[in-house]
Amino acid sequence: MYNLKDLKSYTKSYKKSVENPEAFWDAIAKANFVWKRPWSRVLEWDFSLPKISWFEGAQLNITENCIDRHLEQNGNKTAILFEPNNPNESSEAITYTDLHKRVNQFANVLKSKGIQKGDRVCVYLPMIPELAIAVLACARIGAIHSVVFAGFSANALASRINDCDCKLLITSDGGYRGAKTIDLKSIVDTALLDCAGIEAVLVAKRIHTDISMVSGRDFWLQPLLESASAICEATVMDAEDPLFILYTSGSTGQPKGMVHTTAGYMVYSAYTFKNIFQYEPEDIYWCTADIGWITGHSYIVYGPLLNGATTLMFEGVPSYPDYGRFWSIVEKHKVSQFYTAPTAIRALAKQGLDLVSPYDLSSLKVLGTVGEPINEEAWHWYNDHIGKRKCPIVDTWWQTETGGIMISPIPKSFDGKPTFATLPFVGIQPALMDEKGEEIEGNSVEGRLCIKFPWPSMARTIWGNHQRYKETYFSAYDQSYFTGDGALRDENGHYRITGRVDDVIIVSGHNLGTAPIEDAINEHPKVAESAIVGYPHDIKGSALYGYITLKNSDDTNAAALKVEINQLISKHIGPIAKLDKIQFTSGLPKTRSGKIMRRILRKIASKDTSNLGDISTLLNPEVVETIMKNSL
Ligand code: PRX
Repeated sequence: MYNLKDLKSYTKSYKKSVENPEAFWDAIAKANFVWKRPWSRVLEWDFSLPKISWFEGAQLNITENCIDRHLEQNGNKTAILFEPNNPNESSEAITYTDLHKRVNQFANVLKSKGIQKGDRVCVYLPMIPELAIAVLACARIGAIHSVVFAGFSANALASRINDCDCKLLITSDGGYRGAKTIDLKSIVDTALLDCAGIEAVLVAKRIHTDISMVSGRDFWLQPLLESASAICEATVMDAEDPLFILYTSGSTGQPKGMVHTTAGYMVYSAYTFKNIFQYEPEDIYWCTADIGWITGHSYIVYGPLLNGATTLMFEGVPSYPDYGRFWSIVEKHKVSQFYTAPTAIRALAKQGLDLVSPYDLSSLKVLGTVGEPINEEAWHWYNDHIGKRKCPIVDTWWQTETGGIMISPIPKSFDGKPTFATLPFVGIQPALMDEKGEEIEGNSVEGRLCIKFPWPSMARTIWGNHQRYKETYFSAYDQSYFTGDGALRDENGHYRITGRVDDVIIVSGHNLGTAPIEDAINEHPKVAESAIVGYPHDIKGSALYGYITLKNSDDTNAAALKVEINQLISKHIGPIAKLDKIQFTSGLPKTRSGKIMRRILRKIASKDTSNLGDISTLLNPEVVETIMKNSL
């Protein structure tokens, strides 16, 4: 699987992947995986429908590729290394043999609850081994997993469960996050008041508290696992059978359930993992993301296990028991590859070096970042103090929709440079588009980032709404996938992602759509209207600024209202979407057709008011002055 060894091999592979993509991916798929039946066609596609199909006709099961095929040679190798929240609790090494047994038992429990191929199973768990095992157990029997990040609220959980008609939910009695204990089961109980389709709830024990169990619906997982058989034959899946659904924010409307299918996702997540992180058999690989996000799906679970790697799963947070925790884990487990978000790097850099220098970080070989642009200062801190200028930094640009890393440095092939995701991975054909929809050729240019040709792990549709998939990704530009990001290409052809060009805001690496936040705020009986924009933030990258008009502008208890508004957001979405700044205003700037001019609000929130553009055409230009005067 490892063939990008130097610049020459990258250049040669890239050329082949573009000139003859089918032959290129055919060879990788044949050489590196076990198939129950080969494909009849490598690729079929038409972006105007859109329809994309990779390895059509092939049959396989991804868990046999993740687990079974490693057993003979590497059964005793650690597959998942679990590091608990509390540093005094022992870590747990789950070997490939253990993992095989636990996944099979879990799969049999799912079957015993009536789950069959194609059924949707929601997984709402903290970062404990059961989360990875549940995901794999679903894949074992062809059930489609839909993991919901355990920081989401009951409302957000319920809407995701209902959107894809999940039949079964897997959760725990609770979870640990730093000094906090999270009462997950009561969130689940609230959510399920609105989810008639859930027939059973499996509950893992983590915090060992008394929780309420609904008779006939809720079952403790442990006893069921203990009595389940450790043999569960892998269900035969077609290449294009859905593997999972994962929700991501859109610029309008409710989150989109991105559907990833089996074979293409497997091939691409495995191949990118191996080549971008340069994983060697003895390495310990650690990605600090949560499995509730795509990064965790592709680069904690599937990519590493497909390569027979040891993947570390951390339950806790970077600040507990102190801000040295990441580095103490790197030292303790001799981590070789470390993959995290720029927001974590900025938070850790702010703490100074006293919490870095005590630790031996000499095991590190490759560092990675993901989820948002990394600023130059954070990049240098990471390079100087964590990598000691010996470790290549892979600034990996990709998306929930892309399934795998799309643009990134590749160690040994070419270096990174601060703030640049650099060059496309093999098989990826980026293009920059201008406002008229034309491709911008040449270097030293800037535009909207599109991908002109399919790659194996691209999402195939939005669950239940193919029309929305088409409109969101394939309608802005002819025969191209539109990413929603802006980018520039420098004089050497290297890409720098400049950020979202739509109403999605990336806060601490989390993708947040403004529409659901505004909907939550507008539920407050005193609120008339609201508009959310992002503004630059030292640690979070972007933070949320809310402009809110009240029905009764004389309302004086602003402090209490702000608290209530953030409580509403927590209830509808989760604490990650709380507003950092709230400005009450008598009106919002609008066009004559009534559209809120977010561009102006964005500039005011970012304190960049030197060039607001022509505001004379607004319906209410006077309001801009008032907003600027009172801005926070
Ligand atoms: O705006 C880009 C930003 O994160 C968005 C995708 O978010 P999500 O689907 O949640 O997936 C995040 C993890 C893959 C992108 O459209 N983004 C992601 N990686 C980078 C980035 N922006 C700049 N540089 C990156 N390396």
